[in-house]
Amino acid sequence: MRARTPKSSTLLALGAALLLAGCERPPVDTSQQGYRGTGMVELSNPRLVEASAELHAVPAALPPAEAGGPTAGETYQNVQVLGDLSVGEFTRLMVAMTNWVSPQQGCVYCHAGADFASDSPYTKVVSRRMLEMTRHINSDWKAHVAETGVTCYTCHRGQPVPAAIWFKDDSAERNIGSVGWRNHQNIAASSVGYSSLPYDPFSPFLSENGRIRVVGKTPLPPPTGQSIKQTEWTYGLMIHMSDSLGVNCTFCHNSRSFIAWDQSSPKRTTAWQGIGLVRDLNQSYLEPLRGTYPAERLGALGDAPKANCSTCHRGVSKPLYGVSMLEAHPELAPAGGTAAPPPGSSATAPASAVLGSVLFKVGRSEISAESMKAVGEAIARLQNESDMKVALSGFADRSGNPERNLELAKNRAFAVREALLAGGIAQDRIHLRKPEFVIAGANADSRRVDILPAE
Ligand code: HEC
Ligand code: HEC
Ligand code: HEC
Ligand code: HEC
Repeated sequence: MRARTPKSSTLLALGAALLLAGCERPPVDTSQQGYRGTGMVELSNPRLVEASAELHAVPAALPPAEAGGPTAGETYQNVQVLGDLSVGEFTRLMVAMTNWVSPQQGCVYCHAGADFASDSPYTKVVSRRMLEMTRHINSDWKAHVAETGVTCYTCHRGQPVPAAIWFKDDSAERNIGSVGWRNHQNIAASSVGYSSLPYDPFSPFLSENGRIRVVGKTPLPPPTGQSIKQTEWTYGLMIHMSDSLGVNCTFCHNSRSFIAWDQSSPKRTTAWQGIGLVRDLNQSYLEPLRGTYPAERLGALGDAPKANCSTCHRGVSKPLYGVSMLEAHPELAPAGGTAAPPPGSSATAPASAVLGSVLFKVGRSEISAESMKAVGEAIARLQNESDMKVALSGFADRSGNPERNLELAKNRAFAVREALLAGGIAQDRIHLRKPEFVIAGANADSRRVDILPAE
């Protein structure tokens, strides 16, 4: 064999240097997330952490205000949400909101000059809804945000428009004309880490309640089976979640089984609540604001700006490294925000017996963000009462094909079981009952799964 010529070894060295140029320079910090040997390790680069420190730093809190005296509701003309605060607390919050959202523009970003009562600036109307949304997150989504909670700053970071928002993708523009249909993929899009995966995983999974699970449970794919195409969408979402949190897949999964909840880290459960949270924000708060924004704030397809995991997280696993700004603003987390029981749950079964009734849309077996509340309450009960077991009964309404209805009732029960597993409830505490009967009527109550206490 001939020795390598100097030329080829130089090329080799150059090639190696080029390859390594894509790598991060050591040292890199590692932290173990799972059992040894499972490869569940998180890597972080101290230099990159330092470079982004400013983004994740918490601004100083304002000094506390006087609590007593007349309320804002009594003093001002047009206070609809913050009426119970004292005038001192109200003014302090206005100053804080200005610092968090529009420090450059000041009070006039939301107010028409000195006429503070006027609702003419759309920004004020949006902010009123944002106040309600922030309170809702802090009171009703503790399963995700814990006591840390969020303030306007978590998303806004001193900017009127948060840096991480999304719109439905205008795929027509990205199509390649006569060459073919791209099927929303094969474009280096930042939303999916410049992979060739479908570039808008947000519309189906974070604004609609699309099905994320793709791993088959039967040897042959069922007729409604999950295809490779759908799997790519799920992977698109997973890349977004990893990217937004600055973590690897193994932060949440043991990669020997992406499906098994009992081998996943508890963070996966938190993430799963996060998906419900984002759906709820987009469906109940952000999308309905569409008519309030001026046209230039809407997306190419005319939709309202929406949130995803990045809107709060911005590249770290706990926004602002888990430092709570809410402590200094308890008015943004009113107590007693527990969810009301799902409508109609007592009409079909004695309320005392049922831990929760999970309602479904016509023909659907995904749990909507709204129905997730009932599941969350059942999970909380089961966590408190660790001996309790449950049985799940699925129902479907009587309209349409009876065979398909039975299948639907079964799939709904499966969906609720998965949700309980995701909430950390052990499999041997959950029993499935046969969908024995399909109850009469076509009202919402008949499309449900009851969670019942069992032996
Ligand atoms: C990011 C938007 C925003 C900014 C910035 C802002 N406000 Fe407000 N302001 C609101 C909203 C929303 C309300 C209505 C609250 C409600 O309905 O509970 C309000 C109401 C008021 C009211 C009550 C007016 C009335 O008679 O009904 C006063 C006074 C007020 N703001 C003062 C200020 C001052 C002073 C600043 C600057 C330090 C400021 N605001 C900055 C959003 C804002
Ligand atoms: C979960 C994240 C989140 C939180 C928390 C949040 N916002 Fe927003 N906010 C958004 C998103 C997303 C938009 C839409 C961005 C746009 O207008 O293009 C928005 C828009 C706004 C706008 C309109 C800006 C414009 O020029 O169009 C204002 C004003 C605003 N928020 C104020 C607030 C205030 C005040 C709070 C706290 C009480 C708050 N927001 C809390 C996510 C958030
Ligand atoms: C922050 C936590 C988190 C990270 C990081 C994460 N996942 Fe997931 N993953 C989840 C959750 C939660 C679900 C379940 C969603 C559901 O059931 O609605 C899931 C579901 C899945 C599924 C479907 C499993 C099934 O039951 O069919 C696959 C496959 C998957 N993830 C792969 C990945 C890959 C690959 C990565 C890295 C690119 C990744 N995940 C990163 C939380 C995470
Ligand atoms: C409204 C803001 C907000 C949104 C949107 C949001 N999160 Fe979070 N998330 C938080 C807060 C706040 C915490 C910290 C809670 C705590 O201190 O325990 C957190 C914590 C987490 C954790 C636990 C991290 C750890 O180190 O224990 C995971 C995992 C997570 N979020 C995943 C997600 C995913 C995935 C999404 C999108 C589907 C998402 N989050 C969307 C606010 C948000």
